[in-house]
Amino acid sequence: MAIEAKDQKLATDETVPMTKDRELQARARVVIPGGMYGHMNTRTLPANYPQFMRSGKGARVVDVDGREFVDLMCSWGPVILGHRHQGVEQAAAQQAALGDVLNGPSERFVELAEKFVSLVSHADWAMFLKNGTDATTLCCTIARAHTGRRKILVAKGAYHGAAPWCTPVEAGTTIEDRSNLVRYIYNDLASVREALASVEGDVAGVLVSPFRHDAGFDQEFVDVDFARGLRALCDQSGAALILDDVRCGLRLHHGGSWEPIGVEPDLSAWSKAIANGYALAAVLGNNQYRDAASSLFTTGSFWYSSVAMAASLATLEALERENSVAHMVSQGSTLREGIDAQAQRWGLEVRQTGPVQMPYLSFEGDHEWRMASRFSAGALRHGLYLHPRHNWFVSGAMTDADLDMALAATNLAFQELRASLNDEREHQGQ
Ligand SMILES: Cc1ncc(COP(=O)(O)O)c(C=O)c1O
Repeated sequence: MAIEAKDQKLATDETVPMTKDRELQARARVVIPGGMYGHMNTRTLPANYPQFMRSGKGARVVDVDGREFVDLMCSWGPVILGHRHQGVEQAAAQQAALGDVLNGPSERFVELAEKFVSLVSHADWAMFLKNGTDATTLCCTIARAHTGRRKILVAKGAYHGAAPWCTPVEAGTTIEDRSNLVRYIYNDLASVREALASVEGDVAGVLVSPFRHDAGFDQEFVDVDFARGLRALCDQSGAALILDDVRCGLRLHHGGSWEPIGVEPDLSAWSKAIANGYALAAVLGNNQYRDAASSLFTTGSFWYSSVAMAASLATLEALERENSVAHMVSQGSTLREGIDAQAQRWGLEVRQTGPVQMPYLSFEGDHEWRMASRFSAGALRHGLYLHPRHNWFVSGAMTDADLDMALAATNLAFQELRASLNDEREHQGQ
């Protein structure tokens, strides 16, 4: 369906110069270290990527130069119902009219905790924070407070945030920051047993993501026996099973991501999508960990902010009412099938891995992400915002028209990639 839609083009970089973006980048280099930090740093993005955005609506975003894109990154996950979802915006505005950061939380605090406890099967209580890193860090702290032990097992290559104990870049960290981490290999129970044995009696928790979604690599679903095995090993050793649902939470299932496979963590970390773009994170836990959670002193100046909590209540309600997970699966499946057909048509060997609503595309033999970068630069030129090395995110706002536009852009990007590879081959006399 989408290949025919290739004539519908959005006004993208070939037609609109990136004047404002370049100007802001130059100004930012003067007053912001490196001009940009984190995942929006140009070091990991193709050259034609905008760094600055102006607006978003539904499944579209507009950059500061007015170029419009179908959005397949969803702000790296937080936007699950689409940008500026009406119900969420209304709930946020109503709360903002009363006040946001007051001397204490509003009623929304208790309502939201009640909502999460009723929605997520392993949860008997909830705590609210601001970022995913806050949530994974607090889970580890609660596990340590409960067990009186130090070590946390983490999967090699997994991302759990940007604090010194877990940032993937070592600059500015000390050996001590990470000295309580022990690595295992995702989906390899023997490696977990080995890691446990290496620090026997001192393991506070095992941190795991719902599936393997390490940036830059093909995604891997969790092996159900592995998940069950982790639960059993945690029970035997008295360690907390901690599910990092920051990236996947609510996109895979309207509840905890491991509920469909029947494995319950003790603690889970949430953020990104839970308030459709408003800054909020949550830690959920079972009764065994309640006393430990209440024994800590943990807080933040903005942790009681009510607007994000009102937005979260509206998000959870809308996800259910709009049956958003099913919609994302349906649109994601069409996207995957369309991309497979296009890649085949252009003679390009690709792999699409992970859940269809959190797709990752890789090219055979593309070890340095060169083809992936050229493909995403091409997609961007034709009006589709995605990322070469990170999984994409489908939102519940993606309409059939958005999907047509997205597939028209991927088709043109594949076509251009094919042409440039052919040119290169000719040049090399092959
Ligand atoms: C699985 C996972 N855990 C934790 C985090 C950290 O979340 P935040 O960036 O909100 O601190 C992320 C962020 O991408 C993530 O994907």
